[in-house]
Amino acid sequence: VAVNDLLIPRFRRARRDSELVVLEGFHALKHALRFEAELVEAVAVDLDEVEDLAEELAPDLAGALRERVKPVDPEVLAELVPRAPRTGVVAIARQPRVDVAEVLADSRPAPVVLLEEPRNMGNLGACVRVAAAADAAAVLTTGDNDPWHPDAVRGAAGLHFALPVAAIEELPGSDRPLIAIDPEGDPLRPGDLPARAILAFGAERHGLSPDLLIRADARIGIPMKPGVSSLNLATSVAVVLFNLRSNS
Ligand SMILES: C[S@@+](CC[C@H](N)C(=O)[O-])C[C@H]1O[C@@H](n2cnc3c(N)ncnc32)[C@H](O)[C@@H]1O
Repeated sequence: VAVNDLLIPRFRRARRDSELVVLEGFHALKHALRFEAELVEAVAVDLDEVEDLAEELAPDLAGALRERVKPVDPEVLAELVPRAPRTGVVAIARQPRVDVAEVLADSRPAPVVLLEEPRNMGNLGACVRVAAAADAAAVLTTGDNDPWHPDAVRGAAGLHFALPVAAIEELPGSDRPLIAIDPEGDPLRPGDLPARAILAFGAERHGLSPDLLIRADARIGIPMKPGVSSLNLATSVAVVLFNLRSNS
């Protein structure tokens, strides 16, 4: 068996391993390395191209990548992930452990984003990406979908490593105010939201659950032109997080 062929079962097992995550594409690998992910394996079709990308897009990592990325045949790369990324780079990293109680107790004035049963992995990834950019305290998700699914990590450009991201069964109690972000809520105004809030966003189709709406301390909506029923989930996360940031 050629060494390259051993990669195929390794990447397949990693997809099912809750302690590992498969990274697809240069940006995911770039952010993983920048935010100190523990890399298990990284391979690329063209190491020179990876170095060129690093020099152009991540000069802080230029030079370091060549040591960590092994060459692989294009036919093998095509077998490692369902959709080979255009940059021809894929990797396996260890998922950082998240202590949800510790995250909720964090006294830093930064909100926690709670996504109730998100359905679309690309959208979930976009939420993680904007939460990382806005320096949120964490992204927590409920429901069946794994926030560390490779499609979500690809959608987040690997920014799962920039802040705690975890699935929870149920939201534990904490001293953080719980704010339901809902189109039917009171209009969002600058300065309305507490800095350490848990900001809860609903599922793409059904919105927030009745249980969460009852439990919430407040219900806030992003004002929209009459006739528009809602914003995309990740767009609403972006609006609310950057509204909160502009107050601080
Ligand atoms: C696509 S929307 C869900 C639409 C769903 N039909 C509803 O009425 O809630 C997904 C989530 O994005 C957030 N959202 C979208 N537009 C919003 C708005 N104008 N104001 C507040 N939240 C919004 C909410 O958290 C919502 O649950």
